[in-house]
Amino acid sequence: MNKIISREELAPNIKKLILEAPFVADKVQPGQFVVIVVDEKGERIPLTVVDKDKKQGTITLIFQEVGKTTCRLGQLKATEEIHSLLGPLGKATEIKRVGKVITVGGGVGIAEVYPVTHAFKEAGNKVTSIIGVRNKDLLFLEQELRKVSDELLVATDDGSYGHRGNVCDVLKEIFPFAKADLVYAVGPVVMMQAICELTRPSGTKTLVSLNPIMVDATGMCASCRVSIKGEMKFGCVDGPEFDAHEVDFDQLAKRLKLFSKQEKKAMECCKDR
Ligand code: FAD
Ligand code: FES
Ligand code: MG
Repeated sequence: MNKIISREELAPNIKKLILEAPFVADKVQPGQFVVIVVDEKGERIPLTVVDKDKKQGTITLIFQEVGKTTCRLGQLKATEEIHSLLGPLGKATEIKRVGKVITVGGGVGIAEVYPVTHAFKEAGNKVTSIIGVRNKDLLFLEQELRKVSDELLVATDDGSYGHRGNVCDVLKEIFPFAKADLVYAVGPVVMMQAICELTRPSGTKTLVSLNPIMVDATGMCASCRVSIKGEMKFGCVDGPEFDAHEVDFDQLAKRLKLFSKQEKKAMECCKDR
C-alpha cells in the first residue's frame, strides 16, 4: 500500500499526486516509470516518475484522466492509499553533456519531459524546452520548466498563449538556427512522428519516450512490443526511450488502439456506478 500525501488539479483532467514510495524515491532516475494498481481489482498502468524527494521518501506522478483507471486514480484523496506500486522500471535516460539539447513535450508529455529536461540542464547542457497544449487553460508545469531550461517556448493550438500552433510548428521555426546536438520528445504518437521527420534530414539525434500498452512491465508478456529498425523490442525493458529515426510509429499507433472497444465499455460501466 502506498499512501497519497497530496493531490492537486494542475489543469482540467490533469492531476498531480505525491505518493509515499521510499524505495522508488531512493533509486529512480530520469526517464523511468512505475506501474501502479489503484485498487484490489484494478489493472496495472505505467506512469512516469516526474519528481522525487529522497528525504521524504515520496515521488510525484502527473497524469491525464483518459479512461477508467486514471479517472479512478484521480478520485483518490490525500491520506487514501493505492493498492500497489512497482518500480523503478525501464531504462533511465542516458544523461550526458552533449552541448545543445531541445526537449519537446506535448499534452501530458510535458510531465514526462520535466525530469529529463532538469537532468540535461544539471549535466551542463544548454537546454531549450518547447511545450504545447490545446489552449492556455490546459498548461501546467510552465514555471517549473522555465526554472530548469535556458529558454522555454510555449505553443497553444488556438493561440491563447505563446506561439499559435503546435510544438512541431515551433521546432520547425527554430530548428535550422538552433544547431541542436540532441532532440528529446514525448507526447502523442503523431507529434513524435512529426518531430522525427523534422530532424531526420539533418540526422540530429532524436530520442522519443514511447507509450505502448504495458501489462507486466518486466519483459514477460510482450504486450508492449514495438518495432525498432525492423527488430522487435519491448518498451518496458528495452525502452521506453528509443532512437526516433528507427521507430515504426504507424505500428505503435495501431497497437495503441487494440483495446479501444473494451476501454470504452469499462469507462461507461464506471460512469454508471
Ligand atoms: P483506458 O481507457 O484503459 O485507455 C486509454 C488509452 O491509454 C488506450 O487507448 C491506450 O492507448 C492507453 N493505455 C491503456 N492501458 C494502458 C497500459 N496498460 N499501458 C500503456 N498505455 C495504456 N500517462 C500519463 O498521464 N502520465 C504519465 O506520466 C504517463 N507515463 C507513461 C509512461 C509509460 C512508460 C507508458 C507506457 C505510458 C505512460 N502514460 C502516462 C500513459 C498511461 O499509462 C495511460 O494513459 C493509462 O494506462 C490509461 O489507462 P486508463 O485505464 O485510464 O485508460
Ligand atoms: Fe509485458 Fe513489456 S509490458 S513485456
Ligand atoms: Mg484501462
